[in-house]
This record gives sequence, C-alpha cells and structure tokens, in this order.
Amino acid sequence: MKATAKAHTNIALIKYWGKRDESLILPMNNSLSLTLDGFYTTTTVTFKEKLSEDIFYLNDHLITGEQYNRVTKFLDIIRSYAQRSNLYAEVSSINHVPTAAGFASSASGFAALAAAATRALNMQISEQELSKITRRGSGSACRSIYGGFVEWEQGMKDDGSDSYAVQLVSNDHWDVRVAAVVLSATEKKVSSREGMKRTVDTSPFYTSWVNSIPNDLTQIKQAIQDRDFEKVGQIAEANCLKMHATTLGANPPFTYWHDTTMSVMQEVRAMRDRGVPAFFTIDAGPNVKVLYLPEHETTVQKTLREIHGVNDVIVSRSGQGITYL
Ligand code: PMV
Repeated sequence: MKATAKAHTNIALIKYWGKRDESLILPMNNSLSLTLDGFYTTTTVTFKEKLSEDIFYLNDHLITGEQYNRVTKFLDIIRSYAQRSNLYAEVSSINHVPTAAGFASSASGFAALAAAATRALNMQISEQELSKITRRGSGSACRSIYGGFVEWEQGMKDDGSDSYAVQLVSNDHWDVRVAAVVLSATEKKVSSREGMKRTVDTSPFYTSWVNSIPNDLTQIKQAIQDRDFEKVGQIAEANCLKMHATTLGANPPFTYWHDTTMSVMQEVRAMRDRGVPAFFTIDAGPNVKVLYLPEHETTVQKTLREIHGVNDVIVSRSGQGITYL
C-alpha cells in the first residue's frame, strides 16, 4: 500500500479568488492556469496497518502543528472516500519549490499527496474524480492534476460534485515561458484563505470582480487556442490587477505587494515599451511571475535580474500533469 506521485505547481492567469463554500472549497468563479515545470513536489504515501496516526515528513523533517493538521485532515477525506477510516499513513514529501522564497507549494503539495494516497489505497478513480478530491486540500491544487493550460470549473451543485479542473490544451500546445521573480523582502503575509474570505465578506469591489470573469475567460481561451501571446498576456495581467484591487477595498484593507513587486511590474511595462512582449501576474504574495515567449528569454531574464531587490529569477516552461514514479 505504497505509491509515489509527482505534481507541478501552476500559475493562475484568471485567478480563483473567493469561496462560495469554505468547507468543500467551492469557488465563486472559474479560474484558468498554466502548469509550470520548474516547481514540483514528489510525495510517497505508505499506508501501514500498525500505525495509530499519520506521520508527515517534509524535505526529510518531521512535521507537526498546523501543517501536519492540514495533511491529516486531507487524508481523512481520502480515508472516508475509500472507506478505510482506521488506516494511517506515513507521508514523505520533497518540495522542489523554494518555499523560503515565499512561493506557495500548496498546489503541487496537495496534488501529489492526493495522487499518491489514492494510488496507495488502490482506488480506481478518474482524473476528474482525483481533481475533485484534490480541491478539498487546496483549491488551486485541483488544477495541478493536468498539464498545460487548465480550467477549474466552479460548478453549481452544493455538494461540489461538478467542481473540478479540465485540461484545455496539453503542455506541448504552446511554448510559453514563465519567469518567477524571487524577491529578497519577506514579510508575514495574509494567507490566501484569509485574504479571499475578507475580500468576499467586505470588499465593495468583489461583485464587480466576479462579474468580470466570464468575459475574461471567453477571451483568453480563444487567445490560447490561437496562440495569441499579446492577448493572453494582456488579459492575464489585467485580471491579476483586478483581483489585487479587490483587496484594497476590503475591511481592513490589505495588499500583497511590496515596493519591489511594483518595481518589477514597472520594468515589465518598460520592456513592452521597448518592444519585448512580457506580461506579469501575481498571486497571494509579493512575488511576480512574468510571461514571455522563448525568443525573449535572455532579455527578460537579464532585465529582471538587474532590478534592485530581486534575489533570483527561476524560469519555467509549461509542465505536465500528475505522474506516478
Ligand atoms: O488554493 P489557494 O488557497 O492556494 O488559493 C490560490 C489563490 C491564488 O493563488 C491567488 C489564485 C489562484 O487561482 O491560484
């Protein structure tokens, strides 16, 4: 009863921001992402009859506290699905995501955990079912089941049975690159969970955000099919700015941006003025991801590295979905 799975993280071009059901993790809107090959998690799950509780190692360290609780709570969901309520597991994850640099690893982490745990229990489930289960660990993780460009369909049902990700095009459809810009400044941030809740509950801009999503999605999906980079970039960048605008209207207001976040945004716009098509997007943190095409890799990397306050630039291509090792 042992399995190992590898999952990549993903970057949302149309953001998931806000839940309609906190416990089932059902979103207020559809979202769309690109799976990234540069950041991934490999997880081995071994269910053992003799264990009386789960054990979790992350990067070879025994984990307790809040991080452990999230893992064991998620395993409870899988156990109840498989009707194996008294069977505990040893989980060992290696994160190839620079967590210290403020990059979220929950997407690749929960996708790899869900895949390894369900495989270890020999559950015969479809990728769609796996995406639904993964969603319960972390919303954005349900998109990491697939490679390439992926859409998470919010679904309408109260039980979440129609809320899962679907692949739009696989990772060989289009060679779009993403540079993850690692900033040196780190600060205690508002978690995505808390940030989106506060925004849904208090921001007067929230309804407008939700209403703007269907049009962004229609446009970006067509642009992805057409491999229209300018259009994809423009829509993604504008969608990111709209999401972040909702946080400024929240009570109390907050932002994920640092001064260097804004310097990177300005430098990306300046590259465009110089004829280099590059566009940014930002998740629930200060780091910026920059989209560009392969022919501009050298220029984009060099420009980003020269910005004061930038520690590192990590380049990704479009990544694969779940693989079993
Ligand atoms: O799934 P979570 O709780 O990590 O939330 C992700 C929220 C954003 O990264 C800001 C947007 C997204 O769609 O990934």
